[in-house]
Amino acid sequence: MAKIFIETERLILRALSHTDAERLFLLDSNPEVMKYVGQPVLTQIEETQEVIKFIRKQYEENGIGRWAVIEKKSGLLIGWCGLKLITYLINGHQNIYDLGYRFLPDFWGKGYATESAKAVLKYGFEEMNLDKIYAYADVNNTNSSKILKEKLGFEEKGSFVDGDDNCFWYELTKQNTDFLGFNKNKSLYKKEENASEASGNKE
Ligand SMILES: CC(C)(COP(=O)(O)OP(=O)(O)OC[C@H]1O[C@@H](n2cnc3c(N)ncnc32)[C@H](O)[C@@H]1OP(=O)(O)O)[C@@H](O)C(=O)NCCC(=O)NCCS
Repeated sequence: MAKIFIETERLILRALSHTDAERLFLLDSNPEVMKYVGQPVLTQIEETQEVIKFIRKQYEENGIGRWAVIEKKSGLLIGWCGLKLITYLINGHQNIYDLGYRFLPDFWGKGYATESAKAVLKYGFEEMNLDKIYAYADVNNTNSSKILKEKLGFEEKGSFVDGDDNCFWYELTKQNTDFLGFNKNKSLYKKEENASEASGNKE
């Protein structure tokens, strides 16, 4: 995969690195963060290191995966956002690109999920040339559903059972992205050479 380094107004999106384990562990060991994600709350940093390995393997195999989100003003990793190629069957779909995000509670309510997701969607539709991007959220995860429907323009297409959880299923087609106000003439991307300028974290 091309080295990712995307800059938005307040954020940097880049590949997750092994050096991110400590910050990522803060995220995945927090019960408030994990409440609706259908995954166990982690208790050992070694588990986070495995997660990073798993995601980096996806970068290699699929050319895409969740990306680290860095707040420019603090230089801190505040969460992740990105596309995942889902190769298993989910709600009757397979080999689809799923939008996901997860942020530390201190950084909720600032519009960061929306800002990073817009950059990821622009990348998916314009760089990867996808026709459709999917997402799903626990029916009780009102914060996430609000972002998907009201801020990003996803359409809710019913619900389904994922493991023990009841989830809403969402779809966004390329034709419906006018809503997001992408500027076709403005690239979101910076080359990796510039990465060290804004994010002290190198691979
Ligand atoms: C889901 C999650 C990412 C939502 O975070 P969030 O902070 O509510 O979402 P955003 O970052 O887009 O922020 C939106 C809010 O910031 C406010 N905001 C403040 N400053 C803003 C700015 N400069 N620009 C845009 N919005 C801003 C908005 O008004 C909005 O609040 P509102 O809903 O009251 O209108 C977060 O709750 C989370 O990480 N949860 C745990 C993991 C999870 O559930 N992931 C999703 C699984 S499907």
